[in-house]
Amino acid sequence: MAVILDGKQIAEKIRQEIKTETQKVIADNNKKPGLAVVIVGEDPASSIYVRNKEKAANEVGFFSVVERLEDTVTQEELLQVVKRLNQNDEIHGILVQLPLPKHIDEKEIINAIDYRKDVDGFHPLNAGALMVGDKGLVSCTPKGCIRLIKETGIEISGKKAVVVGRSNIVGKPVALLLLQESATVTICHSRTKDLAAELAAADIVVAAVGVPNLVKGAMIKEGAVVIDVGINRLEDGKLCGDVEFEEASKKAGYITPVPGGVGPLTIAMLLQNTLEAYKMAEIKL
Ligand code: GUN
Repeated sequence: MAVILDGKQIAEKIRQEIKTETQKVIADNNKKPGLAVVIVGEDPASSIYVRNKEKAANEVGFFSVVERLEDTVTQEELLQVVKRLNQNDEIHGILVQLPLPKHIDEKEIINAIDYRKDVDGFHPLNAGALMVGDKGLVSCTPKGCIRLIKETGIEISGKKAVVVGRSNIVGKPVALLLLQESATVTICHSRTKDLAAELAAADIVVAAVGVPNLVKGAMIKEGAVVIDVGINRLEDGKLCGDVEFEEASKKAGYITPVPGGVGPLTIAMLLQNTLEAYKMAEIKL
């Protein structure tokens, strides 16, 4: 049976570390790290995520603001909100909750965020920095996946890693991070011919496709580390991941549950990124 990677517990430890460091930087600089979250409309899932982000920021002692905008907001109005936050010295991190309404050009909004405040790591300058191995802000969920893998104590270098999913938010950046850690990386997606064959050799699996139970237990290599990024709501209201949890946990060495696996790490990494952005802005070397 696999060891369950308890994301909640690991995230709590990280949040305590951030809280301690935050107290220190506030004492040294007389200024709080500031996080602004922008949410457009009232999507229930997004509303919960945003509330959790705000709560977590307050708990570690950050200055935290949430800009709630009607879903009728225009592209220009939303751009003005971002520009105002870019210029606000109290704000070090800006996160625009996705998805945005259909009439909004998401890319233009993300590109308008000052890359130094882009705590989501979605700006092309940060995505590009990751690509070429430069320092930059790294997306929270991929960063959380790597942190979870490292918590197992298993060395990533030289291992075969299979990422299922090729999104800009998770699949692509997590593949690049695994490559940076010297894994041999394969990216699978909806056009992959034989997922089972690809997964058969995988020491590390990161599933981020958004298809409930797509990764079957039988596909998992004995002893593999399985990170499930999927959060899918089933018809009965229950949450499930992209991995068939019960069956996969019989074969995996380590596995993340859904919920309580990657999710809590994402928020912890957001706090870490905000502190990092703060240090870049406020601490002159
Ligand atoms: N929606 C789902 N995940 C994310 C995320 O990591 N960041 C933002 N901004 N929106 C999201």
